[in-house]
Amino acid sequence: MKKINVVAIDGPSASGKGALSRSIAHRFGFDILDSGLLYRLYAFLSHLKFDIDEINKKISKDISFISDEDSVHVIYEGKEITNHLRSENIAKIASEHSAKKEVRRSLFEIQRNFYNEKGLVADGRDMGTVVFKDAKIKIFLTASKEIRAKRRYLELQNRGQEVNMPALIADIEKRDLKDSSRELSPLLPAEDAHIIDSSEMSLEEVFSLTENLIKKEFI
Ligand code: C5P
Repeated sequence: MKKINVVAIDGPSASGKGALSRSIAHRFGFDILDSGLLYRLYAFLSHLKFDIDEINKKISKDISFISDEDSVHVIYEGKEITNHLRSENIAKIASEHSAKKEVRRSLFEIQRNFYNEKGLVADGRDMGTVVFKDAKIKIFLTASKEIRAKRRYLELQNRGQEVNMPALIADIEKRDLKDSSRELSPLLPAEDAHIIDSSEMSLEEVFSLTENLIKKEFI
């Protein structure tokens, strides 16, 4: 299989995929695909009663994704809707939709279209196993559930959202179980993925490991 210039980063909720992706994109000038945001957008638009074809068109044409070092921002009809998409409630609905074949099929092409020869960092659950099987580098990033809940807690608090820690841990556990046990594209490390447990590591340490891999494979 011909390998393409993609760093695929998969892992459970709040394992640090987003922060790592942004650091890589910033350091190497790569584009970013936050595939979880697409599933969250799907949940958001289907709540507005758009059907699957309309959602597909809207995501491809009417939505802009702007990345900076802190976040990927989503603009819809001139308004930034990122904070809304980042709520745990939308995540729950996204996870329900993400188990459906037609939803995964419809988002597949959209995700492949994010490819840029200069380099793409793609984060999600099935980047290395399904969408970018041909990625040059595959990372499976994980961490203990307590550490992940703490990271998500701080992230949501920083966004000004109310958070209840026990409810957050329960939500994360439920969503991870659902994502790993579903029939289609379950959350799993690809056979050729580098597995990194970041429970005891700082973002800088994880970044440095990944940076070395990219330098070896891409340059
Ligand atoms: O990564 P994030 O938490 O934003 O993803 C929200 C939900 O979208 C996940 O819990 C998962 O159900 C779904 N998802 C997926 N495949 C991806 C990315 C996200 O099924 N590649």
